[in-house]
Amino acid sequence: MIITIDGPASAGKGTLAKKLADAMGYAYFDTGMVYRAVGLEMMLSGQDVEQESLAENFAKKLTFSKMISLSQKPEFRGPENGNNASKVAAYASVRAALLKMQQDFAQNPQLEDGSVAQGVIYDGRDTGTVVCPQADLKLFVTASSEVRAMRRHKEFLGKGLEISYEEVLRDVKSRDERDSGRAAAPLKPAADALIIDTSDLNAQEVFEKVSAIIADKN
Ligand code: C5P
Repeated sequence: MIITIDGPASAGKGTLAKKLADAMGYAYFDTGMVYRAVGLEMMLSGQDVEQESLAENFAKKLTFSKMISLSQKPEFRGPENGNNASKVAAYASVRAALLKMQQDFAQNPQLEDGSVAQGVIYDGRDTGTVVCPQADLKLFVTASSEVRAMRRHKEFLGKGLEISYEEVLRDVKSRDERDSGRAAAPLKPAADALIIDTSDLNAQEVFEKVSAIIADKN
């Protein structure tokens, strides 16, 4: 079974996807990592993420193992690289170069210990619309921008990053605008996606709600 979970930043997709993958023994692909990897590699080598052709070259050379090793760096999940990622993700050429790596994952899904998984959970912005339109279940997880900024702010503070709530809210809104307004794979629910609003739900409640949907389907 393939499940896709799309939605805006900090809506709770990652937490839900990880919990579901653990509970079901499925492999998990956080597809934002491919764009974060390109953004971080460019930043570390002093390249300008505003230059599409440069970003495309980095995207073409990215491998899954390189992405995993870049993800170990502390800046990978930081706000600056979130912005880099959303900039390079707006380029159609970058998206095209990174599509196959994402699609291949479902052909041979493996757990971290190397064993074969019976299914895959994708999380991102376009996994139900572009990466895996044949998915068995498509979810679009969302929440108000204020609630999402609050969650992200808490996460950054937990990691020792000094940043104000207002700055995080501005960042969430500008990323939303870029993700929804871009011509290449704009953020939108697939026509057959179920919309889950997590504004008033905690992580466990979201997990239980979606687990019930999956149980109904089986
Ligand atoms: O989810 P995360 O914050 O790690 O994603 C970083 C950026 O990558 C997002 O702001 C979005 O612009 C982009 N992205 C995307 N398509 C995906 C996943 C992420 O465009 N499937």
